[in-house]
Amino acid sequence: MPEDYIDNPIRRVGVLTSGGDAPGMNAAVRAVTRTAIFYGREVVGIFHGYKGLIEKNFKPLASGDVSNIIQLGGTILKTARSIEFRTKEGREKAFQNLQEAGIDALVVIGGDGTFTGARIFAQEFGIPIVGIPGTIDNDLFGTDFTIGYDTALNTIIEAVDKIRDTATAHERLFFIEVMGRDAGFLALNGGIASGAEAVLIPETDTDLMTLENFIKSGYRKSKNSSIVLVAEGEKAGGAFAIAKQVEKDYPQYDVRVTVLGHIQRGGSPTASDRILASRLGVAAVETLLDDQQSVMVGIENDEIALVPFNKAIKYDKVLNPKLLDSIRILSS
Ligand code: F6P
Repeated sequence: MPEDYIDNPIRRVGVLTSGGDAPGMNAAVRAVTRTAIFYGREVVGIFHGYKGLIEKNFKPLASGDVSNIIQLGGTILKTARSIEFRTKEGREKAFQNLQEAGIDALVVIGGDGTFTGARIFAQEFGIPIVGIPGTIDNDLFGTDFTIGYDTALNTIIEAVDKIRDTATAHERLFFIEVMGRDAGFLALNGGIASGAEAVLIPETDTDLMTLENFIKSGYRKSKNSSIVLVAEGEKAGGAFAIAKQVEKDYPQYDVRVTVLGHIQRGGSPTASDRILASRLGVAAVETLLDDQQSVMVGIENDEIALVPFNKAIKYDKVLNPKLLDSIRILSS
């Protein structure tokens, strides 16, 4: 066993995935498991997120248990959103289970909701917890990228490229809804990467008239198809409502709507997501063994960054407004 961290009292680390799954979560589980074992600790996989914590759905993980999973989408640990963990009684039960199983620290992989639960749990029972950002939405403050975002972006551009073929063949206007309940990162960067004519996101107001004029000017310049990416959290009613209005105002346009949906959450993680997940998994265990707790390990300017749960939850990650300008410039 390496000498590092020999004095740290943590002996058995629990790992779980929670909230919406994201490609690369398995790579993170593998990295957490292998790193903890490397430093002479035991690892326990907790199935179905916080629900599994309450139901004591635990299984010891050996190095071989995480072989051959780096390339898999989804999460071998399963995931859930637990209502019971939001109650004090639920969390008491969870803590009792951890004690019985001798688990003295946790690594939780997920998004905002996952870290909110972890923060309260750590405050109540003093258990060391470190978080790894895993969500396709990329909407966590304190990290440039979240695990799953790059894969989802690639799924989006592959789908949009295909829709572009049929849009061009029929000279149609397509509204394509992508995920992003509260954030427009997928829509915005998906839009730039697929050459969308416009992008509608939750962070900015949708001005229908500007959008319509913009589309009109595109058609005047003899564009024979148009793609508008709409984040699901867009505030003017979503892709269907906007499409209906545009169709009413401009009956000459042949309008269609496609909702990409959960296809964006699946698939084999890209190289970027596998590398990010592996780096964050190593960092999460080292952070725990460095006596840190209630922090998320993120990546900033290609370096590992620690952000207290408190801040990761409270602050919104700001979209770069220059990206919005780029969409306007590049589709003009
Ligand atoms: O949080 C990630 C996310 O993909 C959101 O963009 C989306 O609104 C949500 O998950 C949908 O999740 P589910 O269908 O699992 O409730």
